[in-house]
Parts: sequence; structure tokens; C-alpha cells
Amino acid sequence: MSALLSVRNLVKVYSAHRHEVRAIDDVSFDVEEGTTFGLVGESGSGKSTIARCALKLIPLTSGETFFDGNDISALSEKRMRSIRSQLGMVFQNPVAALNPRLSVRESIAEPLLTHTDLRGRGLSRRVDELLDDVGLDANFASRLPHQLSGGQSQRVGIARALATRPRLLVLDEPTSALDVSVQAQVLNLLQDLRAQYGLTYLMISHDLDVIRYLCDTAGVMRNGKLVEVGVASHVLTTPDHPYTRQLIDAMPVAPGAKASDSDSAAEKQRTAL
Ligand SMILES: Nc1ncnc2c1ncn2[C@@H]1O[C@H](COP(=O)(O)OP(=O)(O)O)[C@@H](O)[C@H]1O
Ligand SMILES: [Mg+2]
Repeated sequence: MSALLSVRNLVKVYSAHRHEVRAIDDVSFDVEEGTTFGLVGESGSGKSTIARCALKLIPLTSGETFFDGNDISALSEKRMRSIRSQLGMVFQNPVAALNPRLSVRESIAEPLLTHTDLRGRGLSRRVDELLDDVGLDANFASRLPHQLSGGQSQRVGIARALATRPRLLVLDEPTSALDVSVQAQVLNLLQDLRAQYGLTYLMISHDLDVIRYLCDTAGVMRNGKLVEVGVASHVLTTPDHPYTRQLIDAMPVAPGAKASDSDSAAEKQRTAL
């Protein structure tokens, strides 16, 4: 296996109102091609900052990010443009991520117009295909964002992220804003799409069940530092770091599940799918 995404000694300091926030403090990890790497940690621990830095949406203070062996942190925006189509991002708040004035068809077509030569019938066919891939009926194409539920909006967000057939998807809490019943459907969809598109995922969540369900590898963030990285099933059941233990113990246990049975909540979710 080789790393599709490599983050090396990443540091990110935000300067806000004349004081500095060291949001990421020397973080390194690898996401192997074809796997899902889960980043877990409480709010404010730096997960979204890592997502933005990994895709070079914001400048790094120091450190490097490699995509497929290329140091993208050193690339100019112009050189970066040819790589952008290989990278996709799914955001936490699906409604805010969509332009309220664009129809579903226009929203999904947008990345294709920017990054590909598809126009006319070819463009239209690819949009139809994407709608089908994310489980939306063709008659959603003419709808506006305000006519969509949260789950439907996130499906459009996923279609946009997939439009250019990227190799890597960064998903920043893609189900946190959705109803619990819809969360399971969207997670299931993401599982299917990973296989169908041969994708690699960097999945960010504060929900250990999401990480357990989807991820091969898990990393635990605390105050801008990665305190533990390893095989997800190991990290989330028998962690080496006391902070990870605290996170696991702080998770609410599903009613009827035994506290000692650490897989029961994930199992419950899986059967709900
Ligand atoms: N644009 C910003 N300007 C200043 N500080 C920020 C900015 N974005 C995030 N932060 C701070 O950086 C830290 C990490 O935030 P974030 O990456 O959003 O964490 P998470 O996604 O884990 O909740 C927090 O202390 C947050 O307040
Ligand atoms: Mg966040």
C-alpha cells in the first residue's frame, strides 16, 4: 500500500484579533490509497483545520501535505488547479454549502464546467448519472436548495464532490447536521460510493460510532495534537492513550446495550441500515 495523502509536521496558527491560536501543533499521518482514515476528537480540537489544510483551502503555517507523492503545500494555485479535480470535499452543513440560487442540476454541473470539457448533452448525462449515484430521482434536478431536506442537500453535496471523479474525498462531519435516521442512510451511501468510485476517504467526525462503522484507521485529536493513531477497531476498543479511553467512556451507550459490549452501538447502527 502507498499513501495517497501524507500530512507531515503540519502546524496551523490562526491570527485573530491580535492573538494567535495554535490550532494544529505538529501533526503527521498517512492515508493509504483505498482506505478510510477517521479523525475523531472533540469540538475545537482542530479537525476542520486539518481538512482545510490537507486540501490547501487555507495556507499552512508550516509542514507539508503530499498528494500521491507530490508536495501540494508548495504548489502555486495555478499548478494546484490541475490537481483540484482529484480532490473532493463534503461539508458539515449541506444547506449552507449550496448556492441558494442554483438548481440541483446547476450545482452539480458547476464543478464539471470548471474542471472538465463536458458541455451540452454530455454534461447533462453526467449530472443525471451523478443524481442516480447519490440516490436522487431525476425530478430533483430542477429543485432549488430550499426545496430539499437536509439529507437530500447532503446527497447533492456528495454528487458535487464526486462530479470530477476525484481520488480522495475529505468529509468534514458529513452527517452531524442530519437526523439520526438519515445519518445511517448517508453513511451507507458513502460506503457504497467508496467501493463504486474506488475512493480514499479522510472522514472527520466527533461520533465514534461513525468512525467505527466506516474507518480502517483512526486518529484521535486533542488540542491540535494527534494523540493516537492506529487500526480503528483497536483504537476504539483498546486504546493506548488515556484520552481516547475518556472519549469512549464519555459516549452515550445506546438503551438496552451493555456498557461492556463496546461494539453494540455500532452493531445497532449497522442493523438500522
Ligand atoms: N478562522 C479561524 N480564525 C481563528 N481561529 C480559528 C479559525 N478557525 C478555527 N479556529 C480555532 O482553531 C481551533 C480548531 O478549530 P477547528 O479546526 O474548527 O476544530 P474542530 O473542527 O475540531 O471543531 C479552535 O480553537 C478554533 O476556535
Ligand atoms: Mg469542525
